[in-house]
Amino acid sequence: MHKSLTTRLRDIRSNDHAEIDRLRSDVALQKLLLGAREPITEKASDWLERRSGDGWTSAVTDQTDAFLGYVQIGSIHRDSRTAWFGICLIEKARGRGHGADATQLALSHARDRMNLRKVLLKVRADNPAAQLYGKIGFRTVGTLCEEYDSGDSIHDVKIMEILLGGQAGEPSIRHQPASAMDLRTR
Ligand SMILES: CC(C)(COP(=O)(O)OP(=O)(O)OC[C@H]1O[C@@H](n2cnc3c(N)ncnc32)[C@H](O)[C@@H]1OP(=O)(O)O)[C@@H](O)C(=O)NCCC(=O)NCCS
Repeated sequence: MHKSLTTRLRDIRSNDHAEIDRLRSDVALQKLLLGAREPITEKASDWLERRSGDGWTSAVTDQTDAFLGYVQIGSIHRDSRTAWFGICLIEKARGRGHGADATQLALSHARDRMNLRKVLLKVRADNPAAQLYGKIGFRTVGTLCEEYDSGDSIHDVKIMEILLGGQAGEPSIRHQPASAMDLRTR
């Protein structure tokens, strides 16, 4: 049962970096995210700087304003106005509706503020997050067989996409802050 709570997106602050470093150095979590098999040593500040070149990263928070995780829209194709989505919440924030609501907020941001037309994602086939995306409206467009080698096992990876609307020939918009976004969950 979900508690009544608010999910918000806000810009990432320097005092969020320690939590981001912790998430990125969690090898089991990174393997779920199709990431590195060894602890990542790149600092959060460097990672965020690197990712800002072709996308947008935002903190997920609630009414307390505490850092609960992040969402990303990256690898933007500027002419086609498509991009790839990612999300990771800290453990204690999971299972309370923040993931679904933060995904919806990120899609709103992609459509309304970045003028994107389509958002795609990759998810390890055994990750229950795939159910979340399906409920939101992503459809599975294919499965990459034996795509990701975690070191212990080899995993299929689903590719999912959601269309956001939009006409041909419109420009994409590079980045706008997320500070005004707010959504109350169940
Ligand atoms: C995946 C993640 C973002 C989901 O966020 P969340 O806040 O835990 O999920 P929600 O509470 O919003 O759940 C929404 C739906 O997702 C599905 N879901 C999410 N996590 C699940 C789990 N561990 N087991 C089963 N279903 C799950 C359910 O269908 C759920 O709907 P329900 O509450 O009606 O049953 C979060 O758990 C997370 O950060 N996990 C680790 C990183 C990760 O896997 N990221 C995704 C990579 S593609």
